[in-house]
Amino acid sequence: MKTNLPQGNSNQNKYNLADYDQAYATFRWEMAEKDLGWEKGSPVNIAHSCIDRHVLEGKGDRVALISDDPAGIRTYSFREMQQLTNRFANALKRLGIRKGERVALLLPASPEFHISLLGTVKTGAIAVPLHSKYMSDALKDFLRDSEPSLVVTTAPLRQRIPEKEVPSIRGVIVVGKAGDENDWDRLVADSDDSQATEWMDREDPMLLLYTSGSTGNPKGVVHVHEGALQYFQTGRWVLDLKETDVYWCTADPGWVTGISYGIWAPWLNGVTNVVYNGPFDAEKWYGLLEKNRVTVWYTTPSYLRMLMSRGGNISRKFNFKALRKILSVGEPLNPIVNRWSLSTFNLGVYDSWWMTETGALMIANFSCLPVKPGSMGKPIPGIYAAIINDQGEELPPLEMGQLAIRAGWPAMMRGIWRDKEKYDEYFRIPPWYLTGDLAYRDKDGYFWFQGRIDDVIKFQSERVGPFEIESKLVEHPAVTEAGVIGKPHPLKGEIIKAFIVLESGYSWSDELNKDICEFIKTRLAPHLVPDEVQVCPGLPRTKSGKLMRRVLKSWELGLPVGDISTMD
Ligand code: WT7
Repeated sequence: MKTNLPQGNSNQNKYNLADYDQAYATFRWEMAEKDLGWEKGSPVNIAHSCIDRHVLEGKGDRVALISDDPAGIRTYSFREMQQLTNRFANALKRLGIRKGERVALLLPASPEFHISLLGTVKTGAIAVPLHSKYMSDALKDFLRDSEPSLVVTTAPLRQRIPEKEVPSIRGVIVVGKAGDENDWDRLVADSDDSQATEWMDREDPMLLLYTSGSTGNPKGVVHVHEGALQYFQTGRWVLDLKETDVYWCTADPGWVTGISYGIWAPWLNGVTNVVYNGPFDAEKWYGLLEKNRVTVWYTTPSYLRMLMSRGGNISRKFNFKALRKILSVGEPLNPIVNRWSLSTFNLGVYDSWWMTETGALMIANFSCLPVKPGSMGKPIPGIYAAIINDQGEELPPLEMGQLAIRAGWPAMMRGIWRDKEKYDEYFRIPPWYLTGDLAYRDKDGYFWFQGRIDDVIKFQSERVGPFEIESKLVEHPAVTEAGVIGKPHPLKGEIIKAFIVLESGYSWSDELNKDICEFIKTRLAPHLVPDEVQVCPGLPRTKSGKLMRRVLKSWELGLPVGDISTMD
């Protein structure tokens, strides 16, 4: 089924991308350079392109940021952002920060996050955003791997930073610690706002983001300034951003979406960006859309399902007249969510696909094309996507295989921090980047997501690595073995289910269950606590001892276990 989703209530019927086929046939990434004012061979800085460029073009008074957080509503123009990011960058330089050094940001979504990130990038240092949900043990792994010289955080979050165990840390800058020598506000106030931007090679790293796989510890995905071309162009084409837009991306800046589409894409396109810091609450969220007259909204299927489940009595109280485009990313967008969105907002949802590693949008539904509910859409002009078999051969339409992208695009990760082997694994079948996703392509060139090849879990549209939880579970004195899987859940996508084998002498009880959950919550992160823990006598392993999570999953779902000839 194909539908043309209604385009909302505005009279804006001219899309930035009017003719997909023509763009797909003719677009080259160099074409985006002109709009950013980039010249061949000249150095760049993505932070300059996001902020200073607009001020230089006479748009300094436009609103860059509207922040709604516990400190109240704060609004910043592009000029103010320029001054504050210069001040922060100059302060970092005074503290000795040099190109290529890492600065970790353990902060909730807030103007201080945005200013710290852009200020860091202006100095040529590499920003390392860390989600404020993470607790000490998880943070220790990230910090020891990335070796930051400085950490920017808040007073309550600071307690989780195992400073003594991370020798690289020279200092900690604390937001909201009035008067202290490390006080963020004082540092910024004492600094000057003279031009602070260091000019960088396009291939220089600017961001290091941790994400999970199905095996091993989290990996630090490296992104470079060159990515700006794609953040900008996809913001223009897929989000359909125009300078008059008010845009809200619901992702926390501790995740890639909160950076690529919470900061880069909107600001490269010069739009007003809304930041909200607080828990999910249907009334509050509808209120944010209404009050700020949000026009373009990027969110996840999980959040949309949560709003849907709260019912129409809440949504009917609000007016969404300004809203003209809704998009989602992170997991499959259920057609029922699309129908609910049509009745609630008079707008359908445009699904889009990409990964932390791809840096930016790769496959999407476009305003100018019919939408097929349930499909992720078509490749962005400039991107070649295919379905391949294990030999790297392209499969014809309607055959399922691995989704692969022809390697080499502006926002592609340029490395896994200190792990070349892991990086190379993604590119082991030239000329492809291997996504680990299963999909098929239909005869019209639309891609349809079918699942993951590995055991990565999607909990509330966020990526969760079973290995990290298993490793922490077995550190608990009562647990000898652990296997973690994702179990389908109507609202959350998947929930986390742990199978454990108890150490002899322990018996299962509610208290032990609680204690194990608390162990994960206080050491790793609240979102990594298993929703269900089940004790079993042993775990299915191969003869070489490798955990067979797919067998656990089949047991859980009552499905046939398939080939278990390798099972011990
Ligand atoms: C994985 C990447 C960077 C965007 C946020 C998630 C899954 C992503 C979709 C979609 C079905 C999707 C894939 C992908 N995924 N978008 N539209 N439909 N699945 O980034 O945390 O790096 O996760 O999310 O499995 O590989 P991420």
